[in-house]
Amino acid sequence: MDKKLKLLTYGCQMNVADSERMAGLLSKIGYTLTDDFDAADLILFNTCCVRATAEDKVYGQIGRLKALKRERPEVIIGVAGCLAQKDGENLIKRSPHVDFVLGTGQSGEVARVVESLERERRHLVDTSNLSGEIPHEVFPLRGGSVSTFVPIMYGCDNFCTYCIVPHVRGRERSRKPEEIFAEVQQTAAEGFKDITLLGQNVNSYAGGMTFARLLTAVDKISGVERLRFMTSHPKDLSDELIAAIAEGAHVCEHIHLPVQHGSDKILRRMNRVYTVEKYLRLVEKIRAAIPNVSLTTDLIVGFPGESDEDFAATLDFVRTVKFDAAFTFIYSKRTGTPAATFDNQVDDEIKHRRLDELMKVQNAISLEKNRTLENSVVEVLVDGASKTDENIFTGRTRTNKLVLFERGNLHAGDFVNVKITQAQTFLLKGVVQ
Ligand code: SAH
Ligand code: SF4
Ligand code: F3S
Repeated sequence: MDKKLKLLTYGCQMNVADSERMAGLLSKIGYTLTDDFDAADLILFNTCCVRATAEDKVYGQIGRLKALKRERPEVIIGVAGCLAQKDGENLIKRSPHVDFVLGTGQSGEVARVVESLERERRHLVDTSNLSGEIPHEVFPLRGGSVSTFVPIMYGCDNFCTYCIVPHVRGRERSRKPEEIFAEVQQTAAEGFKDITLLGQNVNSYAGGMTFARLLTAVDKISGVERLRFMTSHPKDLSDELIAAIAEGAHVCEHIHLPVQHGSDKILRRMNRVYTVEKYLRLVEKIRAAIPNVSLTTDLIVGFPGESDEDFAATLDFVRTVKFDAAFTFIYSKRTGTPAATFDNQVDDEIKHRRLDELMKVQNAISLEKNRTLENSVVEVLVDGASKTDENIFTGRTRTNKLVLFERGNLHAGDFVNVKITQAQTFLLKGVVQ
């Protein structure tokens, strides 16, 4: 029987990858994807709780399904992912129209859980195995056709004091290299050209070889045209890894290296275990080894105890490093993390003012960086039509910059040379050569 699955994914790339795996498992018991809530037999949320805003978004959407469940009580509604892990039982108390809650360590059991609910309806909550085994023998139902994610490790042991991830994703565990190689070979055989190796902290990969060696080995797999990875923690981005990026034929010249803050005092209170000085030296080393590398980062404003001076240090820092782009976040108090109990929580209005100022400074730098590419020719991997105009195609440079150009007779997955004619803050426009 053909059953329909409506899958909603929130949060980071790890959740995207997990959703594709859950969809793969559910396809084995007869579910195919639908966009339509009304056609769905199963509605599955894969959730995020990294900031309060992420959590509110999920609860808002779950709340909106109350009426649907009243009209069609046979629909199964499930919640998986980080918010499910965090709130467990409480999620059902708050939203009794949810049938099941499944923790992050048990996403591999989603099909078993759904089958059991198909047989017998009841509330089911299972978040017991936080650091559960990474599911193998899974055939993910991948979105897109050009770029995809391959998880190499799960969990995080870093315990930055603001962050809920280690509490909801469990301890670090790494997949075996052979399993990763097999999955990469499979995706390459399916035609994917751009592969991102994923982990909360890829540098801590410990599946029997260093991450640098793993990267070098994957780089040699036939069909892998572009190879990326995320996320790196500055505390242990090794010389060996920098060399592997510089030397890997397909390893792209882009490193996402979250710094979080520009003041040593705050970095210490965040438990980031590096100093501004150490980060700057690392950037120098990376830029010397990998010409034209693009560097992106994450930054938090309004961490408890952040003074005007500390914030000014972050502004100075982004002016010094000149990141290609930065994701900027307002500190969000997460119950259960140490920083939630720190004194001197920063006022909301100040947080917002600081965010605006930081974004203004960084946006000007992003534009300045992109302008240096005007009149140059870059290699672009074509993604397909843009959202707004089917005659305008989008693609990415090796440095992960978004490029817009005319469709011509191009197809998703083509490599083209594009001459950049106009740079903007978040994208480049160009002409296919
Ligand atoms: N493992 C990755 C990503 C973690 S979550 C890493 O360490 O880089 C992605 C980003 O969310 C973090 O880099 C951080 O900037 C931000 N973040 C995490 N917890 C936060 C919080 N409580 N408030 C605001 N931003 C937060
Ligand atoms: Fe969170 Fe820090 Fe782990 Fe990243 S390294 S997931 S910010 S605890
Ligand atoms: Fe969110 Fe979980 Fe990712 S909290 S950012 S979905 S690891």
